[in-house]
Amino acid sequence: MTLQRQKVALIGDGAVGSSYAYAMMQQGLAEEFVIVDVIKERTEGDALDLEDAQAFTSPKHVFSGDYADCKDADLAVITAGAPQKPGETRLDLVNKNLKIMKSIIDPLVGSGFKGIIVVAANPVDILTYAAQKFSGFPKNRVFGSGTSLDTSRLQVALGKKLQLSPQSISAYILGEHGDSEFAAYSVAQIGGRPFLDVAKEAGLSMDDLKEIEDQVRHKAYEIINRKGATFYGVATCLMRISRAILRDENAVLSVGAPMDGEYGLHDVYIGSPAVVNGSGISKVVEVPLNADEAAAMKASAETLQKTTADGMA
Ligand code: NAD
Ligand code: LAC
Repeated sequence: MTLQRQKVALIGDGAVGSSYAYAMMQQGLAEEFVIVDVIKERTEGDALDLEDAQAFTSPKHVFSGDYADCKDADLAVITAGAPQKPGETRLDLVNKNLKIMKSIIDPLVGSGFKGIIVVAANPVDILTYAAQKFSGFPKNRVFGSGTSLDTSRLQVALGKKLQLSPQSISAYILGEHGDSEFAAYSVAQIGGRPFLDVAKEAGLSMDDLKEIEDQVRHKAYEIINRKGATFYGVATCLMRISRAILRDENAVLSVGAPMDGEYGLHDVYIGSPAVVNGSGISKVVEVPLNADEAAAMKASAETLQKTTADGMA
């Protein structure tokens, strides 16, 4: 009997990509892991460095490769692209990173790759949309990290306030992974109870909750101002998404999902919970938003669609 080996291709071996590779190694996910980047010395060095961890993790073949090596990968994770400089927004990166995305998708698809594409490079929702269009792949097989990082930031912030494990807080950030995102507090829950009841009992006012939402929205800027980039948080989100795909988990995760009528939206990728499994996204979970949140979702989608149209024109 031949055991099936799972293979992941990482494209973009910078701060985010290499942290993701390390997280995947720690979790023992994927028997084969190929790293592609325009800077070959970096991928060769990282493959050698990651290989040194194998004595303490599960056996794996980690190597520096090219697009031809992506042909039989189950999953390609794209983290290649310029990051924000202090003061830049994610949307400011659109033109530069769209060109990089095109230069990746063409040879990736040309290699014969037929797996799932997960995008993390920014502006992630727009680059995910572009990756789907450039690849011609079905929409469920191309998706983004979306608001996974923002959702984890929200859960961590609320966990600190309420002295609860972030994992016990079912609360999502929806919308753009960026400045127009918002917290869907009205549907959040803790232990089956409405989050807003729990927050009120703990003495948190709506103003307090708005302040937390604002801190989450600006957290990336706080990190970039201090250390120049963010990478461990998103790398862990990407590992979690990868695990849901490779283990066919049917996990409900916050991701950048393709809209097909959900929230009244079409032709846009945007942050929402979705069911993630071995086929990619099997279903978008449409959260029943209140009127203010629904308006915020619509406004966020409009921001993305306008920037996409300008960037891809
Ligand atoms: P980085 O500069 O450290 O790394 C980028 C890498 O991409 C470099 O190694 C570079 O050589 C490579 N690259 C550039 N052009 C390429 C091409 N055509 N083909 C292959 N590789 C190419 O940047 P970083 O800090 O790792 O950030 C990468 C991206 O991830 C940025 O766009 C950043 O904004 C984004 N990011 C997203 C999230 C999220 O939540 N989605 C979080 C953090 C960072
Ligand atoms: C983040 C990146 C910069 O940390 O998108 O949110």
